[in-house]
Amino acid sequence: MAATPVLDVTDLVKDFGGLRAVDGVSLRVAPGDRRVLLGPNGAGKTTLFHCITGTLRPTAGQVRLLGRDVTRLSEPRRTALGIGRTFQISNVFVELSALENLVLAALGTDRRKWVMHRPVGAFAAVRRTAQAGLEAVGLAHRAHERVRLLSYGERRQLELALALTGGPRVLFLDEPCAGLSPGERTRIARMIADLPRDLTILMIEHDMDVALGLADRVTVLHRGRVILEGVPAEVRRHPEVRDVYFGHV
Ligand SMILES: Nc1ncnc2c1ncn2[C@@H]1O[C@H](COP(=O)(O)OP(=O)(O)OP(=O)(O)O)[C@@H](O)[C@H]1O
Ligand SMILES: [Mg+2]
Repeated sequence: MAATPVLDVTDLVKDFGGLRAVDGVSLRVAPGDRRVLLGPNGAGKTTLFHCITGTLRPTAGQVRLLGRDVTRLSEPRRTALGIGRTFQISNVFVELSALENLVLAALGTDRRKWVMHRPVGAFAAVRRTAQAGLEAVGLAHRAHERVRLLSYGERRQLELALALTGGPRVLFLDEPCAGLSPGERTRIARMIADLPRDLTILMIEHDMDVALGLADRVTVLHRGRVILEGVPAEVRRHPEVRDVYFGHV
């Protein structure tokens, strides 16, 4: 791999008491790569994401992001380096409108400190950014709807817009299509596929068609370990993956 990897994880371990959820994972992701993490329930996929993004501190190992050792960096400081993410469990303010959620996210990622005496024009700019974010995911017509009243698919679209706020360089998506109807799933998958090619994407996905359709490379986790890394065609025909993964779905 010639270019400096966007993500370089070395010998990562995460214990929860006596349970080793991530057991010595090493993972390198090149700039612009679309990497899908596969694995049965409890394989350690979300825990690995949390250790990379800073939600959890690893028990051992190293995480380098965008050329920097971030292993001891707080979550907000990692985000400020250029990380966008969605969560396996919905993470939006349901009593606020779609637009208000994006305005809050845009304020949060703004490098300049938000102060009360900031000129009105600055807020208008943030609002325009938020509006553009909604348009990018096809939600402009729902801007003023309270999130509670959005469909599950629309919420996922909003979450994608939130993850893209601030123009991240690397995007972490934890099951962005989970719980969606086939139609909504196709819509979100298309949206992710249409993201700029220079954006590096790591995605956890259970739906095999979505996963293998989107991935440049796939990493398969099982019991906290990487059991295979390869292009989608290799993963499809690998007997061990068929046993541990396809056997469980
Ligand atoms: N905060 C926690 N405290 C204790 N154990 C945890 C915690 N989070 C996860 N685990 C355990 O760690 C293991 C890995 O969980 P994780 O959520 O990372 O799996 P996953 O691959 O994301 O699974 P799924 O496909 O169901 O989302 C599981 O056995 C889980 O019960
Ligand atoms: Mg998970």
